[in-house]
Amino acid sequence: MATKPLEIEIKNLFVKAGKTTILNGLFLKVKKGEFITLLGRNGSGKTTVFKSILGIIKPFSGSVIISGTAMTGAAVRAMRLKTGYVPQYFSSENDFPITALDVIAMGKNKKQAIKWAGEMKLGAVVHKPFGALSGGEKQKVLLAMALSREPEILLLDEPNLNLDMKAYGDFMALVEKMKASLNLTVIHATHLAGHIPKSCKRIVVVKGGRIIMDGPKDTILKTKNSGEIIYG
Ligand SMILES: Nc1ncnc2c1ncn2[C@@H]1O[C@H](COP(=O)(O)OP(=O)(O)OP(=O)(O)O)[C@@H](O)[C@H]1O
Ligand SMILES: [Mg+2]
Repeated sequence: MATKPLEIEIKNLFVKAGKTTILNGLFLKVKKGEFITLLGRNGSGKTTVFKSILGIIKPFSGSVIISGTAMTGAAVRAMRLKTGYVPQYFSSENDFPITALDVIAMGKNKKQAIKWAGEMKLGAVVHKPFGALSGGEKQKVLLAMALSREPEILLLDEPNLNLDMKAYGDFMALVEKMKASLNLTVIHATHLAGHIPKSCKRIVVVKGGRIIMDGPKDTILKTKNSGEIIYG
């Protein structure tokens, strides 16, 4: 049976925590090879969209469908193997006995880990305990781990956190290179309209747990009162 081309489809998704509605009827379609940015203020629901795609949280109703398959049970586990995820927050105790290289290697194998550590210019720190790294170095390790899986889907939740402008630019250049060679699907989230990478052409604005704007970057950012609509 021919496998369907990878397409992520979120249909009328509701996520609740107690009486609080976090995602409020969210629809989103992302085609194979697309690079989109979820843009929205703090608390709008961006991270919850990632957690829903990854099956980390259960929806109240609605569904996540990837390549025509609803993401439940074994399908979620299979999808995770094809997905690189860089979470927004990650902490570890300083005495946690694992080196930076070990963390990167959790993504795939050690050979790939060494390659991606080099690409991320982590050579000088890879044998240090992960907990001893600076915030930016930890962030780079997580990015290297995600890329070392050579994923089909890359989920980047505010990857600029902790990175200086140079490191962020280097990382995005790597993402673009990989995207071009592997036709990677990238979903990137940020609350900063000024941090949307050049190669990202589509912006999806999240507000109050639903999508309120979706279209070409220039159209969205040039919409009259876009700042007020997105952040107001
Ligand atoms: N387990 C939970 N219980 C209660 N409220 C929650 C829970 N998880 C998320 N929320 C709330 O849902 C809303 C959306 O959270 P989410 O982390 O998805 O936002 P975000 O857009 O990623 O924000 P940020 O830009 O700050 O990262 C927030 O108001 C948050 O407080
Ligand atoms: Mg978030």
